[in-house]
Amino acid sequence: MIASSIALIVLSASAVQAAFDPLKHSGNASPYFDAPTLPGLGPETPAGCVVDQAAYFVRHGSRYPEPGSFTGWEELFWKIQNASFIARGPLVFFPSWVPPVNNIDHEPLFLSSTGAQEAFNLGVELRKRYAFTAGGENFTAWSAGEQRVVDTTTYFLRGYLSDGNYLSDPSLNRGHLIILPDSLTADQALNATNGTFADSLTPSASCPPYAVFSNNGSIAASTFRATYQNRTAARINTFLQGNLTFDATDVGVMQDLCGFGFEIGGDKRFCDIFTDEEWLDYEYAADLNYYYGSGPGNPFSAVTGYPWIKAIVDLFEAGPNHSVTNGTLTPPPLIMGFSHDNNLPPLISALGLWNDTVLSLTQRDRHPLRQFRSGHLVAFRGYLALERLSCTPQPISTDNGVFHQIGVLGGSIISSNGTFATTSVPQSYVRVRADNAPIPLPSCSSGPGQTCSLAQFVEMVNGPLANAAGDFIAVCGLANVTGPGVSGISGNGSSVRFLTTKGDGTEIIVGLNPTTPS
Ligand SMILES: *[C@@H]1O[C@H](CO)[C@@H](O)[C@H](O)[C@H]1NC(C)=O
Ligand SMILES: *[C@@H]1O[C@H](CO)[C@@H](O)[C@H](O)[C@H]1NC(C)=O
Ligand SMILES: *[C@@H]1O[C@H](CO)[C@@H](O)[C@H](O)[C@H]1NC(C)=O
Ligand SMILES: *[C@@H]1O[C@H](CO)[C@@H](O)[C@H](O)[C@H]1NC(C)=O
Ligand SMILES: *[C@@H]1O[C@H](CO)[C@@H](O)[C@H](O)[C@H]1NC(C)=O
Ligand SMILES: *[C@@H]1O[C@H](CO)[C@@H](O)[C@H](O)[C@H]1NC(C)=O
Ligand SMILES: *[C@@H]1O[C@H](CO)[C@@H](O)[C@H](O)[C@H]1NC(C)=O
Ligand SMILES: *[C@@H]1O[C@H](CO)[C@@H](O)[C@H](O)[C@H]1NC(C)=O
Ligand SMILES: *[C@@H]1O[C@H](CO)[C@@H](O)[C@H](O)[C@H]1NC(C)=O
Ligand SMILES: *[C@@H]1O[C@H](CO)[C@@H](O)[C@H](O)[C@H]1NC(C)=O
Ligand SMILES: *[C@@H]1O[C@H](CO)[C@@H](O)[C@H](O)[C@H]1NC(C)=O
Ligand SMILES: *[C@@H]1O[C@H](CO)[C@@H](O)[C@H](O)[C@H]1NC(C)=O
Repeated sequence: MIASSIALIVLSASAVQAAFDPLKHSGNASPYFDAPTLPGLGPETPAGCVVDQAAYFVRHGSRYPEPGSFTGWEELFWKIQNASFIARGPLVFFPSWVPPVNNIDHEPLFLSSTGAQEAFNLGVELRKRYAFTAGGENFTAWSAGEQRVVDTTTYFLRGYLSDGNYLSDPSLNRGHLIILPDSLTADQALNATNGTFADSLTPSASCPPYAVFSNNGSIAASTFRATYQNRTAARINTFLQGNLTFDATDVGVMQDLCGFGFEIGGDKRFCDIFTDEEWLDYEYAADLNYYYGSGPGNPFSAVTGYPWIKAIVDLFEAGPNHSVTNGTLTPPPLIMGFSHDNNLPPLISALGLWNDTVLSLTQRDRHPLRQFRSGHLVAFRGYLALERLSCTPQPISTDNGVFHQIGVLGGSIISSNGTFATTSVPQSYVRVRADNAPIPLPSCSSGPGQTCSLAQFVEMVNGPLANAAGDFIAVCGLANVTGPGVSGISGNGSSVRFLTTKGDGTEIIVGLNPTTPS
């Protein structure tokens, strides 16, 4: 009796949560979730098409807090512990709450196990989605150099290569990881031999004017937070009696602790403190941070995102298993790059996406289909993907059956008049996806599933988008720099070369077998 009424309560609580989930409105603190798709535009590959090449630019998985945020958690802990008070309602857990970090040297900034799982799951998902890699083949992925990014790539590779048993044959099924320097400043990039300036998974760090404007993101977010956090603090203070009074800063920390508490320890208690409106405000502040900091609201965003888009379109033109002219390295048909949150919005800017509403600093944009939502791009392990699809112009109906001839793999589709339908030559198209949801390109969406023809996409990237972005070295005010960073293996500093140039980055092999004690 008691058990069944508990079950009922648990059931109805989860039904309520399905309606509004704060973890899907926590911006960059959200654990990975598939972004909602536009009406009528599902994530599946359009009928009559197969993906023959794809490129993913991925944020690292869920992690522990940055040292600065962690200090905020500790301050909240001490503020609570140093007071005598009675807590009620959603705050009753406060007297015994402790920050979810217990090994300071090994946790802050590094992946949580949720982050490792997110990365492993993406490996499994993409191996099955594309079936590009036959059993036993090696696979290479690229990573920016910070440990949490390298760890994400490593867990991705372990997931991707988790099929079959290759422990006894170390020449097969091995993950190769090419590590590029992480977030070099312009001065550092100048002296580095490879992985410099635009030839990087973290190019914005070496574009000085980008940094000047990126501050606009945090300023915009703070301006907006000031419109709601005091009101929220006053509301939650009604659950307290005694000498503990929360302020705007505490609200900011507590809202972060919904996502982080869940990701680290499965703790959703902070998620239950705030109203849906307060979560939407929290989310909107994060949207402003990325829109003005690293996205379309930063005039130096597109120039830092463009080089990766250009490198991928060149490889899509060459086709799967081909390198570019003069390339010394051929990337696999699935091209994986792992990096940080701030390096994703520049890709959106370079593609000319999500820039048709200027986000207000004082009023939350309430349109339900508002384009720029940080949680649909830079949630932990969020990604931007480009897919090359091969589609037959009119998918032919198989209603009349498919004929198989003895000894011949494959079949012929029978048409309504009984003859074999002639298969037409497939055409290539490009589709953009962010966190699984397809994003149509405003000026090029007449292909199957609102895709853009490869020919038109190539034209767009080499024409108007190249002009809108500009040349990295010139636009970033680096025209006079000299050094290995603009003359060595990284080329002229304005393009991505690491995908097609041997030795551009440090290569390691990811262990799949249990290491023998040394
Ligand atoms: C709480 O008390 C501790 C120990 O007495 C002290 O170090 C700390 O500054 C206090 N913190 C706050 C936020 O009151
Ligand atoms: C709360 O009250 C206690 C005892 O009255 C006092 O020692 C403490 O400093 C007060 N804390 C705050 C944060 O005001
Ligand atoms: C696969 O990787 C392993 C480990 O580096 C290596 O020994 C082997 O030669 C690679 N196979 C191919 C086909 O490159
Ligand atoms: C780059 O190299 C030059 C010449 O060796 C040196 O003077 C400068 O300090 C180096 N810059 C950095 C950021 O290491
Ligand atoms: C953004 O930053 C630039 C450079 O600091 C500044 O000139 C500009 O006023 C800022 N824009 C906004 C909207 O804050
Ligand atoms: C929020 O409250 C604090 C403390 O009362 C006050 O100093 C601050 O000006 C308020 N901020 C806004 C935007 O009203
Ligand atoms: C690309 O090369 C891999 C490894 O040799 C092979 O398994 C795959 O079938 C090739 N794909 C295409 C589209 O040629
Ligand atoms: C390829 O290399 C040759 C010889 O160095 C050079 O002339 C040509 O411009 C290069 N082509 C491209 C597309 O980089
Ligand atoms: C969005 O970006 C594209 C590409 O840079 C540009 O052509 C377009 O004018 C931009 N739209 C707005 C409204 O700024
Ligand atoms: C049979 O139908 C196919 C497609 O519907 C058409 O292309 C073909 O010409 C037809 N053949 C005859 C003999 O009618
Ligand atoms: C590059 O050097 C020239 C000549 O010294 C100077 O006129 C120009 O302003 C410099 N450009 C940059 C971006 O520093
Ligand atoms: C590329 O840079 C890495 C360090 O980031 C270095 O280990 C490697 O040797 C460099 N490769 C070349 C060809 O310079």
